[in-house]
Amino acid sequence: MIKDFNTPKVVCRPALPLDSTDVFEFTKFIWEGHDYIQYVWNEWFADPHGLLAVAEYGGRAVGMAKVTLVSKGQWWLEGFRVDPNVQGLKIGSRIHEYVNGWWDEYGDGMVRLMTSSERVQVHHLSERTGYHKVGEVNSFSAPALDEKTDSFSTVRPDELNAALDFAITSEPYQLNHNLIDIGWTQMALDEISMKQLIAEEKVFWWHGRGGLFIKWDDNDDDGNKVLGVSLPACKIESVPELLTNIRRFASANGYVSVFGIFYVDPQIVSALTKAGYSLPWDSTAYIFERRHPARP
Ligand SMILES: CC(C)(COP(=O)(O)OP(=O)(O)OC[C@H]1O[C@@H](n2cnc3c(N)ncnc32)[C@H](O)[C@@H]1OP(=O)(O)O)[C@@H](O)C(=O)NCCC(=O)NCCS
Repeated sequence: MIKDFNTPKVVCRPALPLDSTDVFEFTKFIWEGHDYIQYVWNEWFADPHGLLAVAEYGGRAVGMAKVTLVSKGQWWLEGFRVDPNVQGLKIGSRIHEYVNGWWDEYGDGMVRLMTSSERVQVHHLSERTGYHKVGEVNSFSAPALDEKTDSFSTVRPDELNAALDFAITSEPYQLNHNLIDIGWTQMALDEISMKQLIAEEKVFWWHGRGGLFIKWDDNDDDGNKVLGVSLPACKIESVPELLTNIRRFASANGYVSVFGIFYVDPQIVSALTKAGYSLPWDSTAYIFERRHPARP
């Protein structure tokens, strides 16, 4: 029997179009006004493969999270937010459990997430729900270099197997926990993702087949083009040279700077530093992952 008909309860459910008003209102106050949710909401809402979820309380959306299919058997948890007015009341725990429950039912393979090394609530929640920490990442950035660039050539579709093999057997890939960041999203390279990246002309040979790099596109706060580097693949001793040439490639292609998110492996950090990259973030971030209990 319902005793407290008027008492609001937290209900987690798939997002509805009208939720955007509440979500845009409370995300204005997250990360000093730099939250990106308003720019991706429509695209996330239209995604037919994952789940955009909200937590509703007292008739309005007060929290959200998104599960995204990245490649076959690879999923990404993102957009985990709670209205600052009601943070610390376990609404985040409810959303996290809800989206993970959805993934247990409909997902497969691996689900991953990235969170600041300072965000202890998310570390706790991840560990409590069966995730393990893959490692620690940092961001690296360098201005584009207005100098003559070495030859880079776009990888052709018929070179898929050669490019995939080159990338996944390279030391930089293995030192990066066999994962790449394709734009604030971590994934393992597989045939499907490499095929897609090649079709989008994001994969390049360097020095014939002496090296390979994978790019993504970003913008800085002033709207300038930023070249994201997912993977600088070549012999470890040549990585500084490749990274320097990527800065030249950036300038030649209208980018103002180069940016990448990599695991803080000493060899990779040393190569990035030698090539003039610095670390713009104040703190590092952790990557967590969880294997599907029934469909691994
Ligand atoms: C991170 C965020 C989503 C958490 O939501 P929340 O509703 O405030 O968090 P909750 O109150 O549900 O707490 C989550 C868990 O952390 C635990 N927790 C709280 N403080 C903690 C601390 N200092 N150390 C360890 N665990 C802590 C809670 O006990 C709870 O776990 P439990 O369910 O096992 O008890 C929310 O603070 C937020 O939106 N922050 C700004 C945006 C952001 O940083 N998002 C995360 C991106 S990865």
